[in-house]
Amino acid sequence: MTAAPRELLLSRIRDVPDYPKPGVVFKDITPLLADPEAFGVLTDALARLCAAQGATKIVGLEARGFILGAPVAIRAGLGFIPVRKAGKLPGATLSQAYELEYGTAEIEVHAEDLAPGDRVMVIDDVLATGGTAGAAVELIRRGGADVAGIAVLMELGFLGGRARLEPALRGAPLEAL
Ligand code: PRP
Repeated sequence: MTAAPRELLLSRIRDVPDYPKPGVVFKDITPLLADPEAFGVLTDALARLCAAQGATKIVGLEARGFILGAPVAIRAGLGFIPVRKAGKLPGATLSQAYELEYGTAEIEVHAEDLAPGDRVMVIDDVLATGGTAGAAVELIRRGGADVAGIAVLMELGFLGGRARLEPALRGAPLEAL
């Protein structure tokens, strides 16, 4: 991504200090979503990454990965698969637990949405510790599909998510705009 669109996206991300708890700076993307030019630039950039990796399906991670992943799927002409927090999907699911700072969380996907031969791109807004994206990578592989890559708007590099994910990615790219 060249400097001008990158600056546009950065200018539409709001830092909210001490949210959701003291000491945390929350990255609020609602100003970006409210700006159709910026949202379009983001959607186009993510769709190009999907095309470059030969993706055949898109996984979006609840909840902000749904907001970004759905228009990317339409733009790229690919199917959209929601990966949800546990207990929200009605059909037969694959579940994957992952570590949080305190405790564990679990995400799920409909098993029928993944099949051998699929190349699945994971889309989300933020990569922080990499726990959520790493669990999504596991789900995709357990569904018999290949991981085309992970594409996010932002990476919080100081949390070390990239290093944690790299072995699981097996050479697939992690792209942060
Ligand atoms: C945030 C964010 C990513 C994840 C990144 O979602 O949208 O999905 O955390 O963190 P990680 O790399 O440490 O796993 P959150 O779980 O807050 O859910 P939400 O989008 O439903 O608010």
